Amino acid sequence: MSKREIDDHSGVETTGHEWDGIKELNHPLPKWWLYILYGSIIWSFGYWVAYPAWPTLNSYTHGILKNSDRARVTTEVAALKSARAPMFAKMQATPIEQVKSNEELFQFAQEAGKSTFNDNCATCHGAGGQGNKGFPSLVDDVWIWDGTYEGIRQTINFGIRSGHDQARISAMPAFGRDGMLDAGQAGDVTEYVMSLSKMADANAGKAARGAAVYAANCVVCHGATGAGDAAQGAPNLTDAEWLYGGSRADIAAQIHNGRGGVMPAWSAKLDAETVTALTVYVHSLGGGK
Ligand code: HEC
Ligand code: HEC
Repeated sequence: MSKREIDDHSGVETTGHEWDGIKELNHPLPKWWLYILYGSIIWSFGYWVAYPAWPTLNSYTHGILKNSDRARVTTEVAALKSARAPMFAKMQATPIEQVKSNEELFQFAQEAGKSTFNDNCATCHGAGGQGNKGFPSLVDDVWIWDGTYEGIRQTINFGIRSGHDQARISAMPAFGRDGMLDAGQAGDVTEYVMSLSKMADANAGKAARGAAVYAANCVVCHGATGAGDAAQGAPNLTDAEWLYGGSRADIAAQIHNGRGGVMPAWSAKLDAETVTALTVYVHSLGGGK
């Protein structure tokens, strides 16, 4: 029962809808807009036929073009792998120390190493390997563990405290938490560690008392001079590089808690030649030994 009429005020036809005396004017959609809409609907039918579109009970319609991003990636990865194979073989056959002096091999190792690094290592060690608190910087020449080629390769393959049976292990005791040092001794040895790296605000009196605490508890791992021991992963305490931060509170926290960082083992996830490329890359970042 249409009650269309011309609205007196605007001279426009109404749709016949009226609420409490308010009438709806009839403004149809512009033609050009409608044609685009109809065109899109027709296009979508073509798309459904050509491309993967509709889910079915346990698969989907594949479309007559059989387009699949997953298949394309698989083919591209396989192509990349076979393109890289001869270079990988050549690199594996070269003693790792000599890769650097072969321009072509070194370039190749850098590229393969860098992309693997970004995919697997950057989450912890930072995009360029610059490190984060608790995750060592790989761009300097300070090494907690062995920074030679074979040392780096071993770290990558088996990890650190990773649970792998060839992992690097060592554990700094939680001197404070486990009551091995009382609060006074822990405070004194904290000042002593600060004095080792010549921090200006180290308290000289406490540091002097801390020297004895250090000699009795810390020398076995960090050495008499505080220079550290790569065989046990005990960092050098005399430099300005800190894994867990170099403030008084950071140092005291490590003495209290004895944290031990975990680096995963990669030997099961990355093949041997990828680990070689990574080793060359990491070694070149900051000056390996
Ligand atoms: C889950 C975090 C994590 C990931 C991922 C990770 N690392 Fe580590 N990495 C660590 C930690 C933590 C340490 C320090 C362990 C310690 O306290 O001694 C470390 C130490 C190292 C060291 C020894 C540094 C030194 O000074 O001796 C090397 C080399 C290294 N990582 C390389 C890599 C490479 C290459 C990858 C990628 C294949 C990688 N890491 C991935 C956490 C990680
Ligand atoms: C059994 C060996 C061992 C003993 C003993 C030991 N440490 Fe450590 N210490 C380590 C290891 C290993 C690390 C590195 C932990 C890590 O990489 O996660 C470390 C780290 C540290 C750090 C942090 C360094 C940084 O760069 O952030 C400080 C500070 C420290 N130790 C002080 C001491 C003091 C002080 C004592 C004696 C009261 C002591 N340690 C005794 C093995 C030891």
